[in-house]
Amino acid sequence: MNPKRNQVVEVRIEGLGSNGRGLARAEGLTFSVADALPGDRVQARVGRVREGIVEARMTAMLEPGLRRIPAVCAHFGTCGGCLWQEVSYEDQVHLKAGMVRDALGRLGIEFPFEDATAAAEPFFYRNKMEFSFGQQGGEVVLGLHVRGKFDQVFDLQRCHLQSEASNRIVDAVRAFARSAGLRVYDLMSHRGLLRFVTVREGKGTGEMMVNLVTSEDPFPEREAMAQAVLKAAPEVVTFVHTINRRKAQVATGEETTVLHGEGFIRERLEEFTFRISPASFFQTNPRQAERLYDLVAEYADLLPGERALDLYCGTGAIAMFLARRTGSVLGVESSGEAVRDALRNCAENRVEGCRFVAGDAALILKQLRKQGERFDVAAVDPPRAGMHSSALQGLIELAPPRIVYVSCNPEALATDVSRLTAAGYRAERARLVDLFPQTAHCEVVVKLVKRG
Ligand SMILES: C[S@@+](CC[C@H](N)C(=O)[O-])C[C@H]1O[C@@H](n2cnc3c(N)ncnc32)[C@H](O)[C@@H]1O
Repeated sequence: MNPKRNQVVEVRIEGLGSNGRGLARAEGLTFSVADALPGDRVQARVGRVREGIVEARMTAMLEPGLRRIPAVCAHFGTCGGCLWQEVSYEDQVHLKAGMVRDALGRLGIEFPFEDATAAAEPFFYRNKMEFSFGQQGGEVVLGLHVRGKFDQVFDLQRCHLQSEASNRIVDAVRAFARSAGLRVYDLMSHRGLLRFVTVREGKGTGEMMVNLVTSEDPFPEREAMAQAVLKAAPEVVTFVHTINRRKAQVATGEETTVLHGEGFIRERLEEFTFRISPASFFQTNPRQAERLYDLVAEYADLLPGERALDLYCGTGAIAMFLARRTGSVLGVESSGEAVRDALRNCAENRVEGCRFVAGDAALILKQLRKQGERFDVAAVDPPRAGMHSSALQGLIELAPPRIVYVSCNPEALATDVSRLTAAGYRAERARLVDLFPQTAHCEVVVKLVKRG
């Protein structure tokens, strides 16, 4: 079979790719079908062929494999955020567990998965949302990206992922921008002002931060905009303004000015309080992050006096959870700002025994080995792409008896775990912790133990 563009094919979906698209095999070809789920028999229109995989869009559902339910959100289907609102939350968790098992299975890795840790709150769970400005018929719109379109934004009425206060903030910013006649930054001409509004929220403290990202220097209306937002959402304890003069369409910038409050919010995870600055990384689902970090500590199984490494430690949350059991944790992180936050988080929470070094994981691992440092456990939580090959080699040479690997990307996890198993580790326990309900994103924790 040699499918042509726009040809309509009939396939049965067998699995899911890591992007959440349904995968089907027919006539020796692999089809990747948007919106289709395992068990579905669908008609789909062929698009382009990428890396040997035929991309297709579903045109008709012939026989659903999973029961569909009405989506909660009016923007479902348009919005690039939630993919799975039409299946029950229970089914979503099963789908994710299957995705992880498939990704590992493709590399011949099999181990018993424990029951997934599902989220208690499948909606309104996020503590951070990034809203984009756009323009429609000459009018300012503020919302989220249209699915698959990096350059198209739809006007958001209500999002079900953050809290209701966040919807009020979006409404207030949009109304102000319209009434003040502010211009939206244009991706093509690189002219205009408004780029993003990021809303962050401490779910455990109720504190909210608004970060307005623009392309230009202070504009005359910015104080009035901040006041309008504070009036609409008294939960906002700090309003900051970030300027991004670069062409890259990102919600970070060169300068951040605090217009109201302290310039950060606080979040609580169990007994710990964390400071969150506009640019710092923090898990987006704090209630599930508590369960994730507890699981990492359980898998690490530290005895008093044992030494732990927290590789890719960010602002130190895993190190702090591990320090409950041992007085010796070394955190390694490339961002100097995150390391400063980690030190402050430990100090403010009176956590003792954590040290942090700023630097590239591969380089630090090499130095640690040269210095003859030994660790009983390494907790590893790399960025989405997984560990760099040289960092993985460094970890293998450092040879900690136990490794707890946290991953948000099943494919990268499978690649790294297969190298670790080839180097003498055995995968002993694994569990999915669902941090991202309504989406196809997975978070997995694996415990590996050195053989012999
Ligand atoms: C998924 S986050 C984990 C953060 C932390 N464990 C947490 O739960 O908050 C990955 C972290 O790795 C850091 N990072 C990225 N590349 C790195 C590298 N080459 N060496 C060390 N850290 C790196 C990022 O700055 C980020 O803080």
